[in-house]
Amino acid sequence: MALLEVADLRVSFDTPDGTVHAVNGMTLSLDAGQSLAIVGESGSGKTQLAFAILGLLAKNGQATGSVHFDGQEILNLPEPKLNKVRANEIAMIFQDPMTSLNPYLRVGDQMAEVLMLHQGTSKRKALDESAKMLDAVRIPDARSRLRMYPHEFSGGMRQRIMAAMALLCRPKLLIADEPTTALDVTVQNQIMELIADIQRDFDTALILITHDLAIVAGACQRTLVMYGGQVMEMGTTDDVFEAPSHPYTLGLLNAVPRLDIPQEALQTIPGDPPDLTRLSPGCPFSPRCAFADGPCRETMPPLEGFGQGRLRACHADRETVT
Ligand SMILES: Nc1ncnc2c1ncn2[C@@H]1O[C@H](COP(=O)(O)OP(=O)(O)O)[C@@H](O)[C@H]1O
Ligand SMILES: [Mg+2]
Repeated sequence: MALLEVADLRVSFDTPDGTVHAVNGMTLSLDAGQSLAIVGESGSGKTQLAFAILGLLAKNGQATGSVHFDGQEILNLPEPKLNKVRANEIAMIFQDPMTSLNPYLRVGDQMAEVLMLHQGTSKRKALDESAKMLDAVRIPDARSRLRMYPHEFSGGMRQRIMAAMALLCRPKLLIADEPTTALDVTVQNQIMELIADIQRDFDTALILITHDLAIVAGACQRTLVMYGGQVMEMGTTDDVFEAPSHPYTLGLLNAVPRLDIPQEALQTIPGDPPDLTRLSPGCPFSPRCAFADGPCRETMPPLEGFGQGRLRACHADRETVT
């Protein structure tokens, strides 16, 4: 049975300019210990999808549909119950560790507090566990680092601390939202390796959310491509990268810098992301799509399976999309 099953999840926000439809019927499932990348341009609804799963939506947001996690429905659970899930079952790491770390507390104290609060661990034992976890994310000299403040660490080290903190309660699912976006490329690679390693070592399921396709290969077994708050396609990462079946995926891949292609040959996808206050009944990508036809503007294509466990939502013939 799947660890996480998201069905027809919708997220909308009330704003003075109208209703913003950020997530529009997302469906996905993830088994224990599996890894899934969710990729798409900025504004595709990736973060709000994660927030809805964790009950972290802003006050003006609401979510409908279903999020089944480890045997229970967790969408819109009351706060106290959600707090349990959030700390012990699902952990999240964000783009900017400084927004989650308290600048005034020693790293060891804030890590220990997580265990003391959620698992009733004694301070001494919690500090021991924290040191072990810093060690696991390869922070050298972990014991003495417990006494340091967040600002005494580099950006990459702070992201390691966040990962260590997220893993303290041994969650079954780790959601990493743009975990390397604020870091330079060398450090990015180190953090991605670390996330892939801890996912295997701790047998944690992983959802990696990113706009940067370059970091996905090697880190996740499967990749889901998201646009306008919907699934465009899904498959093993190898399949999706080697034989993309959706025009949007093609566009994303053509925009990824590669060693074998000169910088000038990179093509960004023309056009703008959809206006989420005025959703058309058709495919959200159709206004920017070179393959779009009449039906694409009128009805959203259903998500259909093909090949080895792949899914795509596109009216165009698969053979023509290359
Ligand atoms: N509190 C909010 N009120 C109104 N719109 C919001 C709110 N939070 C997010 N949005 C909108 O939801 C859409 C999806 O955002 P997001 O999930 O953050 O995209 P991504 O993570 O893929 O870049 C964006 O258009 C964003 O402006
Ligand atoms: Mg985001």
